[in-house]
Amino acid sequence: MNVPISLQGQTALVTGAATGIGRATALLLAQAGARVVVNHLHQSQAAQALVDEITTAGGQALALSADVSRAVDVERLVREANEAAGPIHILVNNAGILQEKPFLDTSEEDWDRMLGTDLKSVFLVCRAVLPGMVARGSGVVVNIASDLGILGRERYAPYCAAKAGVIGLTRSLAREFAPQQIRINAIAPGPVATAMVSLEHMSPEWVEKELAIPQHRLADPAEIAASVLFLASDLSRFYCGQVLGPNGGSVMP
Ligand SMILES: NC(=O)c1ccc[n+]([C@@H]2O[C@H](COP(=O)([O-])OP(=O)(O)OC[C@H]3O[C@@H](n4cnc5c(N)ncnc54)[C@H](O)[C@@H]3O)[C@@H](O)[C@H]2O)c1
Repeated sequence: MNVPISLQGQTALVTGAATGIGRATALLLAQAGARVVVNHLHQSQAAQALVDEITTAGGQALALSADVSRAVDVERLVREANEAAGPIHILVNNAGILQEKPFLDTSEEDWDRMLGTDLKSVFLVCRAVLPGMVARGSGVVVNIASDLGILGRERYAPYCAAKAGVIGLTRSLAREFAPQQIRINAIAPGPVATAMVSLEHMSPEWVEKELAIPQHRLADPAEIAASVLFLASDLSRFYCGQVLGPNGGSVMP
């Protein structure tokens, strides 16, 4: 019996893929046989290093720069991805930023930047990629939310609001596009050891908070990528509008 985990012949677009969870995801999808489009913002060197790592191992990848919070950039990104790598079968909306600030110090610019990168980008990239998937009657979208979008956290209100928005957007799109055989799901990771969340740069108070989960550790980005691979593959074909929680036990619904 064959385990249906091969992504051979499929193209995957991963946003914010030069570092962290996006990088680990791009690598794993490429190892499973997908052609990977590595989107990045001002990180040409890191993105090219990842492309080189994938191609040296016999896989296929290319790097494309774009700010996914801007509609013009997103339209160009998807056009260039289609031209260079063919239709997009798998979309992983991963790009994101995080900012800690007391709510009463949060400016309109802070709010717009956070919501633009962490939520509007998902709308923009889905809007650009879904027409191709609808035309072909197939496709997979995986949106990276966060356990903080479920739990909330003091001094992270815009981030938590954006990630809760990603979950709502995922469920709405999952319902709207299920009839066209497009599967749309989300992942809400717990704390992951990346540039965004690194114990070395945190105050002891926040290290304690991050580790106050049943598994008492941060995830490796590859542990989140494994959930993306599952949702991208046929193994998850009955999943629709779900939120997977690789979170070390931070949330137990
Ligand atoms: N690290 C964690 O603990 C954690 C937990 C839950 C969810 N997440 C989510 O996982 C995703 C990846 O984060 P990470 O932890 O790997 O951090 P990271 O900082 O390594 O990765 C984020 C990537 O997004 C890119 N990016 C930011 N703005 C962009 C834009 N406008 N256009 C294109 N790319 C852009 C960054 O350059 C970076 O490469 C984010 O959405 C984050 O919110 C992270």
